Amino acid sequence: MLLCMRFFVVPALCAMAWAQSPDGRAAFQSRCTGCHGVDGNGGEHAPTILTTLATRNDEELATIIRDGVPRKGMPAFKELPPGEVTSLVAFMRTLTQARQGRRGGPPVRIKVTLTDGATLDGFAIARTSRELQLRTDDQKIHLLRKAGEQYRKVTSQADWPSMHGQFSGNRYSALKQINQSNVGKMAVKWVFAVPNSGRLQGTPQVHEGVMYVTNTNTVIALDAGSGARLWEYTKQPTQGLVGNARSPGNNRSVTIAGDRVFMQTDHAHLVALNRHTGQVVWDTEMADFKANYNATGSLLAVENLVVAGTAGGEQGVRGFLAAYDQTTGKEVWRTWTIPAKGEPGSETWDGIDIAHGGGPTWLTGSYDPESKTIYWPTGNAGPDFNGDNRKGDNLYTCSILALDVMTGKLKWHFQPTPHDEWDWDAVQPLVLVDTAWKGQARKLLLQANRNGFLYVLDRTDGKLLLASPMVKKLTWAKEIAPDGRPVMNPNSVPTTEGQLICPAVEGAANFFSTSYNPATRLFYVNTLERCAVYTRRVTPPWQAGSGYSGGGGRRDPDDKPRKILRAFNIETGKPVWEIPQEGPGDTWTGTLSTAGGLVIFGDDGGALAAADAATGKRLWSYPFTENLHTSPMTYMFDNKQYVSIINGSVVYVFGTE
Ligand code: HEC
Repeated sequence: MLLCMRFFVVPALCAMAWAQSPDGRAAFQSRCTGCHGVDGNGGEHAPTILTTLATRNDEELATIIRDGVPRKGMPAFKELPPGEVTSLVAFMRTLTQARQGRRGGPPVRIKVTLTDGATLDGFAIARTSRELQLRTDDQKIHLLRKAGEQYRKVTSQADWPSMHGQFSGNRYSALKQINQSNVGKMAVKWVFAVPNSGRLQGTPQVHEGVMYVTNTNTVIALDAGSGARLWEYTKQPTQGLVGNARSPGNNRSVTIAGDRVFMQTDHAHLVALNRHTGQVVWDTEMADFKANYNATGSLLAVENLVVAGTAGGEQGVRGFLAAYDQTTGKEVWRTWTIPAKGEPGSETWDGIDIAHGGGPTWLTGSYDPESKTIYWPTGNAGPDFNGDNRKGDNLYTCSILALDVMTGKLKWHFQPTPHDEWDWDAVQPLVLVDTAWKGQARKLLLQANRNGFLYVLDRTDGKLLLASPMVKKLTWAKEIAPDGRPVMNPNSVPTTEGQLICPAVEGAANFFSTSYNPATRLFYVNTLERCAVYTRRVTPPWQAGSGYSGGGGRRDPDDKPRKILRAFNIETGKPVWEIPQEGPGDTWTGTLSTAGGLVIFGDDGGALAAADAATGKRLWSYPFTENLHTSPMTYMFDNKQYVSIINGSVVYVFGTE
C-alpha cells in the first residue's frame, strides 16, 4: 500500500487495491493518510488539507485529486475509477478541522512589531486587546503580550513536561514565589473547560510556554499564561474497546521532547504530534486493542526514546513495557512483565492463568539519568481476586521494575504484593530521592503502596531498607519481613461469602501523586483509611472484548472511610503530622510540595488546599464543586509562579499576583 501511494511502482497492485475500496473513507485511508495524516489534519509528508476544503468547491477538489499539484509534491491520481473521486470528495467533506484558536472563523494575517524593533508576520490563532497568539509561516507559535503599541514575547521559565513533572517522579518544585507568606492570597487566574469531557484524571503539562491537557484521544494546547487555545488534536473513540480507556475513559498525560508531543490513544497506539501544530508525525500501534489492550497515557520521553506502557490488567492482557524511537516511532525494545513459559519467573506461575496474567504498566514510571535506569511499577495479576489458577508469586505483577533504558533488560525487581488477590497493583508513583538516610548517603526509591505499607528501597540494587504501615486500617499482613515479603495474617484473602480486609480495593494510596521535600525531609501521602468486603468467584474463561475478573470488593456499611494527609519521616516510617479530612473518602488526589515551604494537596471535602510543609498548619483552600481525581502541579510563566489542577473537566490555574 505504501509503495502504491508514494512511489507508484506497482500499478497493477494499486489498481487492485483501488478496485476493492468500498468507500471514500477506505480510499482516503489507503491513498492520502500516508502524507496528509489520518484525519487530513496534516502528516509527515504533507500539510493539512482542511484549510483547502473551506475554499474549494467539490469540482475543484476533484480536479486537484486527478491532476495533483506536481510542483508542490501533490501526486496526480489519474487512473481512479470515476465514482471513487466523488466518494473521496464526499468523505473529505466529513473531516473536521483541528480547531484553531478560541473563536474559530477564518485566520487573520497580521504583522506586529516587537519591543526590540523586530517584526513578526503570521496568522493570529487567538487575540484579545492584551495578548496575541501568532503562527508564523514556519508553523511556529509565538505567545505575545501587548506593550504599548508593540508586543513582547513571553514564555515559561519553569516547565512540567511529563506526568510527574520530573524524571524523579517527585512532585517537589524548587519554585518559591508562592510561599507561606502569600499563599493566603492565591486566587484563580484563568480556567479552561475541556470540551466533551467527563471527570478527567490528568495533570496539565507545560513546555516552553504551552500547556497541554488531555482527555481520551484528545490533546489541547493552551497559552500557559492565559488559557488561549492554540490547537486541538482529537480522534474518535474506538468502537468495541474494553478497559479503562474506553470513552469516556481516562488519559492521564502526554510527554514532550524536542518538537514533539507524545500521546496515547484509547486503543493503545503511541502517537507523535508536532508540538506547534498538533499534526500527526507518526502513529505506532503498541498492541492490538482487540486482545484487550488499551492505554491511559503512561509514558516518559528519555534519551532518544519514548518509554510507554498499557492498561488492561482487569481484561487479562499480557503486560509489557516498550520503548520507541522518538524520531521514527519504531519499537526499540519490549520487556514483558509476564514471562513466557520456561522463561525466568515463569516458575512463579502454577496454573493456566500465566496466559492472561495481567501485570499492566498503566502509570508513568521514573528515570535516573545517571545510572540510565528506568523504574516502572506494574499492576495486578489476572484474574484479580482469585488466584486459584495462578498459584505462586506471579512475577512480575504488583512489582517495581528497574530496567536498563537502552535495552529494557531487567536489572532488579521488588514485589510488594506477591500473589495479589486484592487488585492492589504496585501502580503508585516511584519517587527517586538522593539523601542521607540513617547517616549514610543513599540513592533511594520511595513508594506509598496501595497495600498499606510505605516502602523505602535502595534503588541501586532493589534491597528493602524500610517497610512501615502508612494507615491504621491494615489487616492483611502483620508486617513486611526484612526480605520484603509480607507476613500474612489469617483471614486475609477474598472468600465466596466475603471477607472484611483492610485496606480497601482503592488502596491506602493509589495513582495520585506523592512528594518528598528535601527541606523538611518529609514524604507527603494522601492516605485512605478504608476496608472492604472482598469476594471471589469462579472466573469464566478469558475472552477478547470482555473483562477478566475473579471477584470484587464491596463497601462495609460499618466502615467510615477517611482521607488523611500524612507527612512521613522516611527513616522511621512514622507520620510527623497529619491532616484528617472531612469528606466521602472518595477523592483520588495527591500532593505537591515546594521550596516555598508548602504542601499543596487535594482535600476530601472538595477543595485544593495548602499547608505549612513543616507543621501541617492549614494556610489556604479553594472550594470545588466536584471531588478531585487529579493531582496538582506548578510552573512559572512570564516570571510568575502558577499552581494548576484539573477539577471535573475544568483546568484551574491559580496565582498570587
Ligand atoms: C505523496 C504525498 C501525498 C499524497 C499521497 C497525497 N497528497 Fe495531497 N498534497 C501533497 C502535497 C505535498 C501537497 C501540497 C501542499 C502545499 O500546498 O504545499 C498536497 C496538497 C493537497 C491539497 C491542496 C491542494 C491545493 O492546491 O490547495 C489537497 C486538497 C490534497 N492534497 C488532497 C489529497 C488527497 C484527497 C489525496 C488522496 C487521494 C492526497 N492529497 C494524497 C502530498 C500528497
